Parts: sequence; C-alpha cells; structure tokens
Amino acid sequence: MTPPAVVTGWGTALPPTVVTNHDLEQRLDTSDTWIVERTGIRERHVGGTVAGLATEAAAAALERAGTRPQDVDMLLLATTTPDETVPHTSSVVHHRLGLSGGAMDVNAACAGFVYALVTAFGSLAVGARRVLVVGAECLSRITDWDDRGTAVLFADGAAAVLLEATGGADPLHGGPGLLGYDLGADGSAHDLLVCPHGGTMSMDGREVFRRAVRVTVDSATAALCRAKVPVEDVALFVPHQANLRIIEAAGSRLGIPAERTAVVLDRTGNTSAASIPLALCDALAGSRVGDGDIVLLSGFGAGMSWASAVVRWAS
Ligand code: COA
Repeated sequence: MTPPAVVTGWGTALPPTVVTNHDLEQRLDTSDTWIVERTGIRERHVGGTVAGLATEAAAAALERAGTRPQDVDMLLLATTTPDETVPHTSSVVHHRLGLSGGAMDVNAACAGFVYALVTAFGSLAVGARRVLVVGAECLSRITDWDDRGTAVLFADGAAAVLLEATGGADPLHGGPGLLGYDLGADGSAHDLLVCPHGGTMSMDGREVFRRAVRVTVDSATAALCRAKVPVEDVALFVPHQANLRIIEAAGSRLGIPAERTAVVLDRTGNTSAASIPLALCDALAGSRVGDGDIVLLSGFGAGMSWASAVVRWAS
C-alpha cells in the first residue's frame, strides 16, 4: 500500500529543431505517406542533451508546483541515453536544479518512466515527501540516420512530474495515488532491439510490433485487475508512443476508445522513456484529466520490458 499522493507540477522540454517527414524524404528512400500510414508520425524534435532537456522539464514542473528545489527528496531520471556512461545523468540535473536528496537514473528503455513512477510511489511509502520523476532521451544520438527502418521513428525530448505525498484517505479508500501496477521483463527477447556501446540502434520492427500489442494489453489488464478497476472506469489511457497502429490495436483490444487515449507521437515521434510523460503532460495541458479520474499508463520497449500503473488522479 502506498500513501496518498498527488502530481503537483509537470513540465516538458522539446529541442527547437523539428525534422518533418518531408525532411526525411530528402535523404532516405521513404515518403511522408508511408511514415504517416505505417506509424502515425508527422514530425519529431532532435537535439540537445539529456541533462539539458531533463533540467528544463523538471524546472517547469517545480515552478508549476511552487516547490523549492531544496524541498525535493529524490530525483528519478528515466533514460536509455545517458549523456555519459559515468556519471549518471541525474546527478548533473540534480546539481543544475539545486535539488536536495537522492538522484538516480532508471534504465528500462521505453518502460522506464512507468518503472520510475512506481519506484517514486515506493519512495513515498518509505518516507519521502516529494519525488521528481523525469523521462528524458536523446535517441537521435544513437539512431542510424541512413536506416529507414528506425530513422523515421526515434527522436528527442523530456517531460517531468512532481509527485507529492498528501494527507487524507489512501488510494484504496478513495484517495489519490497508485491503485495497482504491473512490471515485467523478458530478456530472452533482448536481441530484438539493441544498441552496442558507441553504435546505433538496430531493431526487428515487425516482431517488436507483434509483441508490443500483446504485452501492452496483458500488462495493462494485469495492473487494472490488481487495482480492481474495470476498464470502463479509465478516464485516460497513456500508452507508450511508438506507433499509432500499436496504440490503436492495444486500445481496441482493451476496450478503450481513442477519445480516452493520449497521443502525441504525431508531433514527437518515439522518445522512449520521455514518451509517456510527454503524452500525459499534453493531456494535462488540454485539461483532459480531472480530480478523481483514473489514469492508466502503460509502456513497453527494449528488453523486452514493460510497465503499467493505475493512478487515481488529483492535483
Ligand atoms: N519507408 C518506406 N518503406 C519502408 C520503410 C520506410 N521508412 N521502412 C520499411 N519499409 C518497407 C520495408 O522494407 C518493407 O518493404 P518490402 O515489403 O518490400 O519488404 C515494407 O515497408 C513493410 O515493412 P515492415 O517492416 O513489414 O513494415 P511495418 O508495417 O511493420 O512497419 C515499423 C515497420 C518499424 C514502423 C513497425 O514494424 C513498427 O512500428 N514496429 C515497432 C517498432 C517499435 O515500436 N519500436 C520501439 C519499441 S519501443
């Protein structure tokens, strides 16, 4: 059981350089029509550093919450593309923001943000009051820009939420916070999406696609079941933003319609650990989440790894 908690602030950061499908047409044997039809992506942002993007997003979250950096107990930075192997990028973000408390990176690929969010709720259960959870990536650095199978998909960005412990009823008795979750991994499929040190990503896209739909549905269903929440009660589904066809297939199998699903990948591409918080923040900016709403977040990615969380919202 985790204590009642609310998201008091959120923020995003996207590098200013936009690469459209038409830009990619100039250098790859591809077309805007193919990319839109097969992925749903129209444009993506590239550039910056993970520390820079994460700092910008986290600073915006702190400002929105009206919280001082020295009142944060923990920073969890989900990233698969740390700026350096050593040190962990969260230590740089911690320094730039002037935070107190701990800082650690979480690498669970595209499931990383939900892994970090569940870990943040766990931190509250052992006494933390405020935890910054950030997803940030610079995938463009490990993308082979001559490989049309991956170059059209991946991009850069960051988003952050500030999770704060609050008083009142616990989540299982009507209060805000974590109602249920599901975390998993299947390392026997680790070679489906790989990037060696100093190299670029290679992927069996078709097999990842097939597994992604199944894993998202199974993991989301397991989390809902543990939360004792029927799928009809989900006000907002925030899936990993890899491919619109994966999102639509998973949503339709779960029974969650498009109007209750958060989608940003048309504008962001696949930003791995940043994709779920970017979609969540976009929904928050559009006032699509209200107090008491049930939010289902579900990610999958390299590993394969997956993570789903069911949260009763309050701000
Ligand atoms: N532009 C034009 N044609 C392309 C292309 C591109 N960018 N990429 C692949 N193609 C071609 C292929 O070469 C193939 O041609 P062929 O039929 O002559 O062999 C054809 O399009 C179909 O390829 P396929 O791989 O079956 O396409 P797809 O519909 O599966 O779409 C992905 C490819 C990568 C978009 C899709 O498989 C996918 O999104 N997979 C999951 C990726 C993912 O989520 N990764 C991140 C995990 S976090």
